[in-house]
Amino acid sequence: MYCCTKINDDIIWIGINDRKTERFENYIPLDNGVTYNSYLIMDEKICIVDGVEEGENGNFLSKIEAMIGNSPVDYIIVNHVEPDHSGSIKNMLKIYPELKVVGNAKTIMMLKLLGLDLPDERVVIVKEKDILDLGKHKLTFYLMPMVHWPESMATYDITDKVLFSNDAFGSFGALDGAIFDDEVNTDFFTDEMRRYYSNIVGKFGAPVNAILKKLSSVEISCICPSHGLIWRKYIKEIIERYQKWANMEPTKEGVVIVYGSMYGNTAEMAEILGRELGNRGIKDVIIYDSSKTDHSYIFSTIWKYKGLMLGSCAHNNDIYPKMEPLLHKLENYGLKNRYLGIFGNMMWSGGGVKRIKEFANTLTGLEQVGEPIEIKGHVTSAERDRLIELANLMADKLIANRK
Ligand code: FEO
Repeated sequence: MYCCTKINDDIIWIGINDRKTERFENYIPLDNGVTYNSYLIMDEKICIVDGVEEGENGNFLSKIEAMIGNSPVDYIIVNHVEPDHSGSIKNMLKIYPELKVVGNAKTIMMLKLLGLDLPDERVVIVKEKDILDLGKHKLTFYLMPMVHWPESMATYDITDKVLFSNDAFGSFGALDGAIFDDEVNTDFFTDEMRRYYSNIVGKFGAPVNAILKKLSSVEISCICPSHGLIWRKYIKEIIERYQKWANMEPTKEGVVIVYGSMYGNTAEMAEILGRELGNRGIKDVIIYDSSKTDHSYIFSTIWKYKGLMLGSCAHNNDIYPKMEPLLHKLENYGLKNRYLGIFGNMMWSGGGVKRIKEFANTLTGLEQVGEPIEIKGHVTSAERDRLIELANLMADKLIANRK
């Protein structure tokens, strides 16, 4: 028997745990896997909300069959066209000749752009707050453009007050046991939710705020996202967390120090900064070697903390190659509301600190702490004192923020 789990009397989780795909969107590591959540609503009309990635089709279709036997599926609601949710539709259309694809006008246009043969008679186009009547369950729709693509929307079951939020409130990580937030230790998933949010949706704070505003007057008993845990106990808490993230507000005191270093001198600068921050009582200091830790994790940690310190050696008159993609992504996402410290090593040419200064000038929402410290080679005693001073300026800022 395939693993399916009841959300309530009529709604069944028929999602897939994918532990074999290496990278999400072919660049973000899935060290702990990912789920493609899909939900079956058993009613006079049988409806599936969100599909799965094409490679997982086999088990997915078997799960549907295990639940409904030879009955037809009437609707597949496509909240989001990205192939991790729509890859299964092509086969579903073949297997279920009565099946209709439900989406907004952009959904249908984008499914066709991705090569799906979708004749008009197999399409139901919905608009904001239209009702899809399944019998007992009445479903309605909230458009949420850019959370994560232009066509993204959420489906709301008016009958049971269940929100199918698609990418919103989703997290990386396979569901290794229970599927509900009140049945597991949520620490892992809140970290993986932040990694998902910051890397996938983080650029689109204004659209996230818009959908949070729309949903603020909607009673929600359960949030069923398209990735990760299903939320029924900590709904208020995750919505509050989303509000902070949407405004790029850090959620915790602490400093992320990221450096690029070839021979250890810039790394030693980071160590001195970190040690002094610790001496000043900053309990969360996280130091990353940009060469070693995947940027999706660094990015996620930056999203959490108020302090950021960036350092680089010089490489061919420029920044260290592993630092550049991180800076580029932070610029692209428009990071703000952070204190920034800058340090690095110029040797004979410089270039690393110069690039970080350009970064600081580009992102006007960052507050630079102290002056950039750029040394030549090994850290001298005088330079060590300057680094300690910079760390203290950062600590002063953070401590002044304590309520
Ligand atoms: Fe889960 Fe934007 O795809």
